[in-house]
Amino acid sequence: MICETGTDTGKAAEWLRKGYTVGIPTETVYGLAANALNEEAVLEIFRIKERPVFDPLIVHVKDAKAVDEIAVAGESERRLMELFWPGPLTILLPKKAIIPDLVTSGLPTVGVRMPSHPVTLKLLETLPFPLAAPSANPFGYISPTTAQHVKDQLGTKIPYILDGGASDVGVESTIVSVDGNKLKVHRKGGVTTEALSEAGFQVEYAITNEALPVAPGMLESHYAPFKPLYFGTASQILNRTYTSPVAVICMNEKELPELPGDYVTFSLSLNNDLGESARSLFDCMRKLDEGDYNTILAIEFPHYGLGHAINDRLRRASVKRTI
Ligand code: TXA
Ligand code: MG
Repeated sequence: MICETGTDTGKAAEWLRKGYTVGIPTETVYGLAANALNEEAVLEIFRIKERPVFDPLIVHVKDAKAVDEIAVAGESERRLMELFWPGPLTILLPKKAIIPDLVTSGLPTVGVRMPSHPVTLKLLETLPFPLAAPSANPFGYISPTTAQHVKDQLGTKIPYILDGGASDVGVESTIVSVDGNKLKVHRKGGVTTEALSEAGFQVEYAITNEALPVAPGMLESHYAPFKPLYFGTASQILNRTYTSPVAVICMNEKELPELPGDYVTFSLSLNNDLGESARSLFDCMRKLDEGDYNTILAIEFPHYGLGHAINDRLRRASVKRTI
């Protein structure tokens, strides 16, 4: 299939109306979108991503009102929407029958979010249906944060990639379910736990590493490069021997102890800015995976704000080895 990359939301809408899948920009990562109400179109997403059908998709809506057509939202959920939408927060809600079971992998809930990327919001406004969209990467690989990333891997399988520039947040949405004032975090992401707590919610984690978790984005191995990646604190991982050349991902190399001369460091933010770090994380991982390195080391980020989501992705990207 010939794949075109462009900024024409009209063209993207045309393909989507015909039941095709299209790459779309969001503020978190790029999505592989299809008409969420069309089962055939949704099946294409699973085929293209080689994604197991037990892993449900997030549905993207144009505004909070559009939620009522597909799901049931209570008072607390509405409050979350008011506070955090448009933005990187996915809310799990009891689904209505109009959403095909394939979208939710048979679960009674559907993950819904209103993205804040202006290009995708414009696209959603022109469409008479919401968009089911997982991250636009082959299942288990690093998520894409540019149109080029999508093209590199899915370019032969989809007709159009809507280019909205590099994703602003750089890590996926936070996934939550709500029970009154209690909020369960199923995936750490772009909305920080601190922000959710400050909004008056009692936050707890519902993240498992079981073989069949509620949110398979939470599978033990995910977001992973092909090269072996080791993750831990500087003292845990730097004093071992690795196959060189070795690349080191960190927030700020100025804060690392002295490294062997042939190690190459990649600082995601010399200003110790977690937002900047998150924004460049996946791009950096992809470049190192494509580069001449045999080993990738990733040094733990601070345990606050977006650091939680960054550490989560790096841990899941790492080789399974107890250090
Ligand atoms: O930021 C994002 O959320 C991006 C952009 C494109 O919006 N999307 C994304 O989708 O990360 P995906 O498919 O790569 O990850 C969605 C995660 C999966 O781990 C899935 O298991 C979980 O959301 N999920 C979706 N629906 C769910 C449900 N009803 N219950 C529990 N987990 C659900
Ligand atoms: Mg994903």
